[in-house]
Amino acid sequence: MYAMHGETVHFDTRRNRLMLLDQTRLPQETVILSLSKKEEMFQAIAQLQVRGAPAIGVAAAIGLAVLANESAETDKAAFLAECCANAAYLASARPTAVNLFHALDAMLETLQANAHESIDTIRQSLTARALALHAEDVAVCQKIGAHGATLLESCKTVLTHCNAGRLAAVKYGTALAPVYAAKAQGHALSVFADETRPLLQGARLTAYELCEAGIDVTVICDNMVSFVMQKGLIDTVLVGCDRVAANGDTANKIGTSGVAILAKHYGVPFYVCAPFSTIDKTAKSGADIPIELRDGSEIGEMWYREPMLPAHAKTLNPAFDITDHSLITAFITEKGILQPSDF
Ligand code: MRU
Repeated sequence: MYAMHGETVHFDTRRNRLMLLDQTRLPQETVILSLSKKEEMFQAIAQLQVRGAPAIGVAAAIGLAVLANESAETDKAAFLAECCANAAYLASARPTAVNLFHALDAMLETLQANAHESIDTIRQSLTARALALHAEDVAVCQKIGAHGATLLESCKTVLTHCNAGRLAAVKYGTALAPVYAAKAQGHALSVFADETRPLLQGARLTAYELCEAGIDVTVICDNMVSFVMQKGLIDTVLVGCDRVAANGDTANKIGTSGVAILAKHYGVPFYVCAPFSTIDKTAKSGADIPIELRDGSEIGEMWYREPMLPAHAKTLNPAFDITDHSLITAFITEKGILQPSDF
């Protein structure tokens, strides 16, 4: 099997392939995808084979470089137009996580800056930029981990929602990075993972990666959060984010805002781990963040042996919700522990 070196997203520059750990097969199977076609890349993002805001951004950037290297175009204007069309196509795979657009914009910036060069030089620049974005994600998550660990010194148990760990980024993740950093410093934390209906990323992915890392993890159903907080079992909540508006309103996996409301009620600090690439200052508030609606089959069929809904029942399946900024204790970023006024 291809060696991913503990990474979720990888650029195999020798064979010019976007390599992904297929998250739809976890925890049962470790399947590595090797992609070179735009349709496969689009599907991988849309169908959540790669998911998590930082991971989809880096995957799209690598994907764009792979496609540029594969292109048969010899006419420069046509080659540039093809790269732009590929970027627009990949950007349309998912609407909420702003990292996807930031990463593709960074690639287009490199494309524009090198547009006067030869096609070969442009290809090399795009490859270098994709590798830089990949390395940057690793470094940013390590910094989030270091800053976050300073908040956890007297903490025993963290609750997290969905998966914002190593599987959601290139390597360390955002919300779980402080837990990994604390462990490296000799401070072992326990984690409660909400299962995160309907896609169960908390149960399938967070529990998987924490077990793999030797970190104590307890999976609870989403409707058990109040129970564990009321019992005093949770010291801190750490979650990731897909887009943070200028006022601090935060889009993250559906159910996050409910956890934040409960945390406020029970006096549990609620931190959002946010790489700067997730902050979208063009969104004034959460009302400006588009929320992805996904297929209802994820609610009624995807994780069941047989369809479990009556045939005529309707479904509503928003993938994200907005947590009001007033519920967020602080943002743990690569630049430190911040308030929205610091963005
Ligand atoms: O639909 P997903 O699985 O891509 O949603 C993931 C989340 O909501 C994560 O919490 C978020 O992307 C942050 S990942 C570091």
